[in-house]
Amino acid sequence: MQVALKVWRYDAATGDRALREYEIDAPEEATLLDCLDIVKDKVDGTLAYRKSCRMMICGSCGMRMDGAAVLACKVRMYDVAQAGQVPVISAMGNLPIVRDLVVDMDPFWDKFKAMKPYLQPGYDRPEDGREYRITQPRMDAIKKEALCINCGCCVSECNAMESDPEFLGPQALAKGMRFVGDPRDAATVERLEQYSGEHGIWECTRCFFCNERCPKGVDPRDAIAKLGAEAIKNGIDRDMGAKHAKWFVRSSETTGWLRETELVPKTQGIVSSVKQMKFAMNLISHNKAGLAFPPHVAKDVGEARQLHKIVREQDRQGAFGHIQGERALAKLAHGVHDEGRDPYGPGSFPKPYLPEDTE
Ligand code: SF4
Ligand code: SF4
Ligand code: FES
Repeated sequence: MQVALKVWRYDAATGDRALREYEIDAPEEATLLDCLDIVKDKVDGTLAYRKSCRMMICGSCGMRMDGAAVLACKVRMYDVAQAGQVPVISAMGNLPIVRDLVVDMDPFWDKFKAMKPYLQPGYDRPEDGREYRITQPRMDAIKKEALCINCGCCVSECNAMESDPEFLGPQALAKGMRFVGDPRDAATVERLEQYSGEHGIWECTRCFFCNERCPKGVDPRDAIAKLGAEAIKNGIDRDMGAKHAKWFVRSSETTGWLRETELVPKTQGIVSSVKQMKFAMNLISHNKAGLAFPPHVAKDVGEARQLHKIVREQDRQGAFGHIQGERALAKLAHGVHDEGRDPYGPGSFPKPYLPEDTE
């Protein structure tokens, strides 16, 4: 098949930047990485990119295709080529570009190391001398986090990191949850204190781009939500983000409604609220916010209270109260966006791998 690509070339040493177009002949099963290899072998040996395993394991080949982070060895080019598309390939975002598609991963690894990504053991061996075994429900709470291959695709797309490069970011926090959720680890509180500080979990904007772009199904935003829930469970709730989350829960339970007018004092404190009084009065006079008293109570508030009661009775505290996003991820992985379509049916996989008779 004929494949055309536009690649952003860049040289950090000179600052030269140019969009170059390449057209190559590639086998039908070729991935984006295979196409770059062909460009490098046959057209332009100076093209720089990273790769190693070629099978979605090592995490080396993260880059952007049409503005979205991908693992180059995961993206099949057949449909793109058949549609006559010419994708634009560029380096990942939020990390300094060294050359062409190669980014400097040092800031990424610095944050990774800051999470202390190793077990700090604190458990008693079973009396029978056998190994300590984690129960399945505990394992389920961290199984996605353990899938991370450190490719950086989530970091590339992180909005919070774009505005604050010091933000720990989705990959590091997902790694943090992998150990916070491990019952063998003795540093849970210490870790949660650290991750709840400045540039930590509450800085995430919940844009979910990291979940959308992660090629391994780690769902880093879910990990951050679990860390937030674990922090609150452990009484680590000094941050405004934690207070905000707690007020959401309290407000919905008591009135079935989000009492926005009280959100500011409950989250930021009285002094800060007084300073914003003029702004609040302005909102109220334009019907953009209601008076705090008497609070508006939803007609079916009993249902909201019942929901809270069920969650409490099931004791779904901390990470166990979090509903994870596998369903959304499955849809993304198969490109299925309408409910009626079978994610495993014809048309859901790259054509070269469908047996002939299913066409
Ligand atoms: S959900 Fe949070 S961590 Fe994930 S990309 Fe958005 S801001 Fe970053
Ligand atoms: S969480 Fe996903 S996208 Fe982020 S580094 Fe790990 S595997 Fe890559
Ligand atoms: S080359 Fe290893 S993940 Fe793509």
